[in-house]
Amino acid sequence: MSDVKTPLLEVRDLRVGFGRRGLRRSREFVAVDGVSLTVGHEETVGLVGESGSGKTTLARAVVGLVKPGSGAVLLDGQRLGPAGRRPAALQRAVQMVFQDPRSSLNPRMSVAAIVNEVWRTHPSSAPAGDRTTALHRLLDDVGLDPSVAGHRAGELSGGQCQRVSIARALAVRPRLLVCDEAVSALDVSVQAQVLRLLADLRRRHRLSILFISHDLGVVHQIADRIAVMRRGVFVEEGPATEVLGSPRHEYTRSLLDAALELNTGEGIEA
Ligand SMILES: Nc1ncnc2c1ncn2[C@@H]1O[C@H](COP(=O)(O)OP(=O)(O)O)[C@@H](O)[C@H]1O
Ligand SMILES: [Mg+2]
Repeated sequence: MSDVKTPLLEVRDLRVGFGRRGLRRSREFVAVDGVSLTVGHEETVGLVGESGSGKTTLARAVVGLVKPGSGAVLLDGQRLGPAGRRPAALQRAVQMVFQDPRSSLNPRMSVAAIVNEVWRTHPSSAPAGDRTTALHRLLDDVGLDPSVAGHRAGELSGGQCQRVSIARALAVRPRLLVCDEAVSALDVSVQAQVLRLLADLRRRHRLSILFISHDLGVVHQIADRIAVMRRGVFVEEGPATEVLGSPRHEYTRSLLDAALELNTGEGIEA
């Protein structure tokens, strides 16, 4: 997938700092320090880096949950402000899937209620016809049986919960999914299933995906391009085959070694 002229998402020289209590503003902690990134139409970009490198902060800036100190986030060339001030269509266009489905879904709510709530909040994306049919279609889309609709989130397995989270995101017909450690809490075999589902959904729904993980072995399975983040900056960025095949930065090599150790047998072709 090359030569996409206007990227779907463009992050331009983004800087996000956090004030530290008791410190002067000039001593604020900079979690994202001038990062630029694009995600093309129907492209999956992997963002990798060890814990604390600023990945989640970048993701939160993209979805509008944290205010950047400077820089810009653009969708199809349109500037995205904070979530609360985004026009509804832009708010729907960018959806996030979080790491821990057990804390991002209310365990006492049924799957049907979870999805219906989304449609209540975003009436313009609610199905025109029968909601039950639409709900079943949505569940089918993420590989869940229609009977799951009546289950409470708390009764589901981790993998099923994550599929529900993905269905909830898809319910508003987004254009970009931001998946922040979306498979990190799952067993390896379930991880692979959810990764296959995401790849499949991208194709069927023509989605773009910003896929964030501390695990290069996981990013390897899904990303077309990879950006490697360390202490708030990108140390390396390029096509997945290049970043994995001939990493230029020592830090990428160390992440690759760590992933190889965890995936012995599975093998990342280097
Ligand atoms: N709300 C916040 N207030 C202060 N510091 C924060 C906040 N959120 C994140 N940080 C700090 O920013 C750095 C990057 O965090 P994060 O973006 O969560 O990294 P990652 O997702 O790569 O693990 C960390 O040092 C973290 O402690
Ligand atoms: Mg994180």
